[in-house]
Formats: sequence, C-alpha cells, structure tokens
Amino acid sequence: MILITGGAGFIGSNFVLDWLSDPKHGQEPVINLDLLTYAGNTENLSSIANDPRYQFIHGDIRNPELIEALLAKHRPRTVVHFAAESHVDRSIHGPGEFISTNIQGTFNLLQCSLAYWKRLPADQAKDFRFLHVSTDEVYGSLGAKDPAFTETTPYQPNSPYSASKAASDHLVRAWHHTYGLPVLTTNCSNNYGPFQFPEKLIPLVIANALAGKPLPIYGDGMNVRDWLFVGDHCSAIRAVLAQGVPGEVYNIGGWNEMPNLVIVKTICALLDERSPETAKRAGGKHESLIQSVKDRPGHDRRYAINAEKINQALGWKPSETFASGIAKTVDWYLANQDWVRRVQSGAYRDWIQKQYGNTAS
Ligand code: NAD
Ligand code: DAU
Repeated sequence: MILITGGAGFIGSNFVLDWLSDPKHGQEPVINLDLLTYAGNTENLSSIANDPRYQFIHGDIRNPELIEALLAKHRPRTVVHFAAESHVDRSIHGPGEFISTNIQGTFNLLQCSLAYWKRLPADQAKDFRFLHVSTDEVYGSLGAKDPAFTETTPYQPNSPYSASKAASDHLVRAWHHTYGLPVLTTNCSNNYGPFQFPEKLIPLVIANALAGKPLPIYGDGMNVRDWLFVGDHCSAIRAVLAQGVPGEVYNIGGWNEMPNLVIVKTICALLDERSPETAKRAGGKHESLIQSVKDRPGHDRRYAINAEKINQALGWKPSETFASGIAKTVDWYLANQDWVRRVQSGAYRDWIQKQYGNTAS
C-alpha cells in the first residue's frame, strides 16, 4: 500500500494511473489524499474510480488528525508527496496559500510520518520511504552559459512558489538528518502531458490556439526551461522509490532545454497539421495568434537540469523525446477538448461540490 498526496492533480493523477497499470506494482493498492483545490480533478481518475486497488480520500495534508488516522489505518510502506500549490503566477498574486500548503503541509506530513515510522516494527521501518516531489526552481536562475543544476547547486529560489518549495525541501532534509526519517527528494524540471491544468504554458497555448484566442508570451519569449514528458517523471519517481538511497536528492530532467517561443511555435505547427479549420480561422497559421505580453515579475531566465546522477545511480533516462512527447500531448488535448472546457467553465468544480460537498477533513 502506498499513500499519495495530491494524486488528483496533473502529475499525481498520471502517477496513480501509471502505478496501477505497471505490471511491477499493479497489485499494490494506492490511497490518494487530495484536497481538490482548483487544480485537483477526480475526473482524471475516473477510469479507476471503482478499482478495488484504488481509494480516494478528500482531505488536507495540513490536518494532523486526518494524516495520523490514515497512516494508522492503512499502514502504507511509502508516502509519495505531490500535494502543493504549483503555479508561479498564482504565487505572485497570492503567496499565502503557498506558504501554508507547501511549507506547513509538508511539515505536518513529516511529523505524522515520523511518529508512524517510529512505531513500525523494525523490518517495516527499514523499508519505509517518504518521497518528496520537488522542483528545479529551488536552484534559481541560470545565465546562458552556466552549467546545468546538479544536486549540490546552492538553493536560490526567486518566486514565492520556489521559496516555499525550497523551504519544504529543507524540512525534508532536516527530518532525515535529525530524526533519521528515510526520505528521498526529487527535483524535476517542467513537466507536460495529459491532464495538465490549462494555466501552465503548454496546455494554455493549445487551448487558446484551438479557441482562436491570443497566445500570451511573457517578455521576449527567450526564457529557457527544460521540458520532460510527465510519464517520464513518473518512471523516474518509481526508480527513486525502488532504488534511491534514503537522504539522497535526485535531479530529474529531459535533457531538453528550449526557449518558450520555440515551444509555442512547435505547438502551433503541430496544430496547423492536425486542426486545419482553426488554423484557417487564425488566418492560415496558429502562430499568428502569438502575442507578447508584460513579463512575469522576477521571471527566472533559464533552468537546466543535469540528470547524470539518477542515470548513473539508478539507470533512469527519459523514454520520450520532446518531439514524441509534445505530439502525444497535442493529440491528447485535441481528443479531450471537453475535459479542457469543463475545467475552464468550472463545471467540474460544481460536480466536486455536489459530490464531495465540504467533506474535506
Ligand atoms: P497541480 O497543481 O496540478 O496539483 C496539485 C494537487 O495537490 C491538486 O490535486 C490539489 O488539489 C492538491 N492539493 C493542493 N493543496 C492541498 C492540500 N493542502 N492538501 C491535499 N491536497 C492538496 O500540481 P502538479 O503540477 O501536478 O505538481 C505536483 C508536484 O510536483 C508539486 O509538488 C510540484 O511542486 C511538483 N513539480 C511540478 C512540476 C511541473 O512542471 N508541474 C515540475 C517539478 C515539480
Ligand atoms: O520548473 C519546474 C516548474 O515548472 C514547476 O515546479 C512548476 O510547478 C510549474 O508550474 C512550472 O513552472 P514555470 O513557471 O516554468 O511554468 P509555466 O508553465 O507557468 O511557464 C513556463 C514558461 O512560460 C515560463 O518561462 C513563463 C512562460 N509563460 C507562461 C505562461 C503561463 C508565458 O510566456 N506565458 C504564459 O501565459
């Protein structure tokens, strides 16, 4: 049994689906604890809603009684911690929730996990793992010629989001160093793929292009990110869980640095082929919808991940290239335009309210 937090979000839901379909783990049940904020969507998991191996719990990682009770009842061998506020722009407009969920929430999970771990019989305590899912943004911003981030690059977070994730990483580290909790931390680059909320660059651009709306590019569009297909992030986390050394940090990346403008133009070109009617409406090419807008305050210029350690130590490498991953992603969004519409219209929030009401503990 594994306990996932934030499993109704973008990466978490991909992870749960991958876990249950992987022949190696498929028989091991999953408990998914999620508060269903605006970013959580149980529709992502509708294909397994009645699967006896899967259980959804509507609740908050900041609630100690709930976490203690869940751990005591289900006795997971692992906690995989995805739950977070994850959008940089939202953190700039309203940092409070980021401090509360990302820092206080992680603290609460660590405290409850530590108490639980201490009570486990020795053979189970030895195998217990707390895997904390973090981001490359904690390392700050690189110049054009700087070497990529390694696991020993000093932390220099620049946004309220990255500062809150950095704080949570430090707590995780301290709970290992001081109390011996068997933790693993992963710092991953930008993910893309199915079920990503259309506030993030790639799904936003796909959705807007299909709707004939402007494609907003912050600043000069030359900010660089490393992009990884979400399924590859999931396989990296599985590798770290299976073979990672407690207390160690693993950087995860796609060896795929690209400026935002190139990403957006690549998506437009794929859509021109696949959706000729919307291209025609856009004057022949979706690219004509690109619009330069005001830059994000404090916008980090470049991120790049050196993923040698996870490759050398655990034999992990991404299986998708950017070309294959982005084509799959564009196809998924084309085939799931109702999902996007429901998320954007708030229809799924109405359903969540009807289904779960205020049942979150
Ligand atoms: P997301 O915003 O899509 O999903 C977050 C999930 O956490 C949602 O389901 C939400 O309902 C849940 N949640 C939020 N607050 C909660 C709380 N207090 N209690 C319980 N659940 C709560 O995020 P994502 O993009 O899937 O990212 C998942 C994790 O991976 C985050 O920790 C993020 O920092 C990290 N990460 C993301 C990326 C990326 O590119 N998206 C890259 C590297 C690391
Ligand atoms: O690097 C990992 C991080 O990647 C994760 O930790 C975060 O949770 C995730 O949101 C992501 O952060 P970014 O800020 O890099 O992602 P976002 O999709 O918001 O933006 C990607 C780049 O595109 C960034 O340089 C800002 C730019 N951008 C974004 C949006 C939403 C635009 O130019 N226009 C936009 O409308």
